[in-house]
Amino acid sequence: MRGSSVPRRGHALQETGLIEDAAVLCSGGRVVAAGPQGHVLSDPWLHKQRGKIRVFDCRRKVVVPGLIDSHTHPVFAAPRLLDFEKRIAGASYQEIAAAGGGIRSSLAGVRNSSREHLAGLVLNALTAMLAQGATTVEAKSGYGLTLEDELKSLEAIHIAAGQWPGMVVPTLLAAHVVPPEFHGREEEYVDLVCHKIIPRAARKKLAAYVDVFCEPGIFTVEQSGRIFAAGRAHGLGTRAHVCQFKASPLEPLLRHEPASFDHMDCATGNDLALLARGNTVATLLPGANYFLGHSEYPDARRLINAGVPVALATDYNPGTSPTPSMPFVISLACTHMKMTPAEAIAASTINAACALNMQARKGSIEPGKDADFALFDFDDYREMGYWFAWDRCMEVFVAGQPQILGVKPRRKTVT
Ligand code: NIG
Ligand code: FE
Repeated sequence: MRGSSVPRRGHALQETGLIEDAAVLCSGGRVVAAGPQGHVLSDPWLHKQRGKIRVFDCRRKVVVPGLIDSHTHPVFAAPRLLDFEKRIAGASYQEIAAAGGGIRSSLAGVRNSSREHLAGLVLNALTAMLAQGATTVEAKSGYGLTLEDELKSLEAIHIAAGQWPGMVVPTLLAAHVVPPEFHGREEEYVDLVCHKIIPRAARKKLAAYVDVFCEPGIFTVEQSGRIFAAGRAHGLGTRAHVCQFKASPLEPLLRHEPASFDHMDCATGNDLALLARGNTVATLLPGANYFLGHSEYPDARRLINAGVPVALATDYNPGTSPTPSMPFVISLACTHMKMTPAEAIAASTINAACALNMQARKGSIEPGKDADFALFDFDDYREMGYWFAWDRCMEVFVAGQPQILGVKPRRKTVT
């Protein structure tokens, strides 16, 4: 994966920049050179460093940029097993939420947990994500929904991030749902988010983005616009859950320059044309469709053909997508969304980096970028979408350092 660091759309999403028999040279946590082995190994700098270089033999297997999971909700205390069984018995996600289940049923667990306990759970999730190739992860709050509990959730993300080798991008999702104590006073809750929670999270530098669940019956487009405006006024970037179950007009939100619109199952043609003209990435989350047992998946082909840049992410959360596996999401993208393996890899690397505004450092293997890679036990990159529910990740490198040690250094030095 190499080439320009702009969101890839249309045919460009197919271009992996595959190099066979490649080598990557790294120093100081960054890529110094990447290309055919003969070319990279003749780098004059390499010869000056004789004796100081560690060599990892990837045995001609597939190396991709560290996968980027650009949408996760890891701060929750427990799985939601009651909802799970209700859905098996035939209830829909919306019916369960209307009866007090769903997001609201995760509030007590977070409110009653200590920051340190939550941090441990977040670290467990990050560790599972890393083991399957993800080196950059966006992580949202959103199951506390009070000032204290949203700040505690973001702090838990920061504590876990400090103990994890990859990069974590924290997002404030206080506008996940209106908590029960604000029932009938929705505008007051939006005021609390805009005037208290966003300013405090921003002042404490706990979040890079503000997110909102913009969906009929959850937060309106108008309320979402207010939340975006407050976030931007406090220096935060914007991103939204939108068009998951029903379409919402995107134009009023686009003026806040969101980095990403996520889910997008029901996005309409008019809005796709608008997105094709801008840099907002559409992040598709097929793990949610899979886990909710939907037969319909986001129409990736329609988005790609319209020129919308698409990314893929796990949406790791207790209600709709309890998976930490980007490779599984890539498999779903290929089998249920008719994306090619090349498109799914680009959507999980360079376009996901764009969805986090990290494209200058992440998402491709090129000189100057962070030396984050995932090594898979594949002979052909197309195997990436082929095997499923089979962890084939052999090694993960973060800033040039192996994290799993599935690959032993072949020689300590170059001679
Ligand atoms: O991305 N759509 C809103 N948020 C999550 C689900 C959260 C939950 O059910 O806990 C999602 O699917
Ligand atoms: Fe989500």
